[in-house]
Amino acid sequence: MNKYNLAIWILLPLIIEAIFIFVRIKYSDYLQSKMFFILTLIKAILFVVIAFVTISIDNVFTVRTTYLFGAMYIVILSNTITNIIMRIVNIFYKNNNLVAYNILALVVMIIIFTYGTINSQTIKPNYLTFDSHKVKKNHTFVFMSDIHYPTAQFKSSVKSALDEIKKINPEFILLGGDITDEFTTYEDMKEIYESIGALQIPTFYIYGNHDRQNKAYKIGRTEFDVNELEKVIKDNGITILKDEWQYVSEDLIIVGREDVSEKQNRKKVEDIKNWPEDAYIICVDHSPYQRKDMMELGADLQLSGHTHAGQLFPLKTIYKPAVKYVYGKYLINSSPYNKYLYVSSGFSGWVLPFRNEEHCNYEVINLRNN
Ligand SMILES: [Fe+2]
Repeated sequence: MNKYNLAIWILLPLIIEAIFIFVRIKYSDYLQSKMFFILTLIKAILFVVIAFVTISIDNVFTVRTTYLFGAMYIVILSNTITNIIMRIVNIFYKNNNLVAYNILALVVMIIIFTYGTINSQTIKPNYLTFDSHKVKKNHTFVFMSDIHYPTAQFKSSVKSALDEIKKINPEFILLGGDITDEFTTYEDMKEIYESIGALQIPTFYIYGNHDRQNKAYKIGRTEFDVNELEKVIKDNGITILKDEWQYVSEDLIIVGREDVSEKQNRKKVEDIKNWPEDAYIICVDHSPYQRKDMMELGADLQLSGHTHAGQLFPLKTIYKPAVKYVYGKYLINSSPYNKYLYVSSGFSGWVLPFRNEEHCNYEVINLRNN
């Protein structure tokens, strides 16, 4: 994101809120009418639908069109909350003051906008600990997924998070895919891998569904091809694992999966599962939805991203029944010992410089011998 886009992002919700204020003044009677309840209900349904369209339909809209949807989401969400507050206030005060209503709506919108925008630029470490008898010593490593550089975040936000990672000094870094996306230029793709390479920490990369810009034709341009991408990644000392595995320590194996969006290229589990059973197995698979593969592979720990934890309220809750694994730690198997899946909320959100579901995280994982 750049300052010009930030200015548009700040202006859009203010313009939409101004339209809402104008309509409220023109049709002021509705505060007293039965329509108030019906309109609140319509707004509640509408902000959920807009959230879903904004986040779940990828690479159909340009960045600015997505901003427009995002701004509508924020205004309608804040209007719904304002309506509920006004209804509660009315129980006690029987007050239908239009000026108070408009000021409250504006204040609620600004609070939600400010929180979500600052939250989208605040990238924090998420500390996790896993115990296993398979590891002979303690290991600390970092998992980063869904940077989407630099679509939704200022480059400075990303760079300062990388500086923090350097200070943590992990044994190695796992990149969980979608490090770039269809909106990333060749120069920016080069920049992020140079920045990660400059950390001078052994780094392993797996593909996400956006890195290869497979759907870029929908937004009218492709910035780089897969050969250019792989060359830049390798030139910066980063190892690509595409349905491959590798020791990172004598007791630790990393398995990197090809993304499920490349169905024809993704190998069957039986074709890659030829590692020694006594090592601790970490599988990195961008999408957490491949439950059958996950069970067959039987890694001690699977790390995934892709979901952005829903990004916009209440998508985290809405996704859950359909996809099961949306965010956080899941116990996949407890026999003969515990095997886990961890789904990261992601380093960044998708396109919008806004998130009000969870935070932007990278995982600092401590593997302990027990
Ligand atoms: Fe993804």
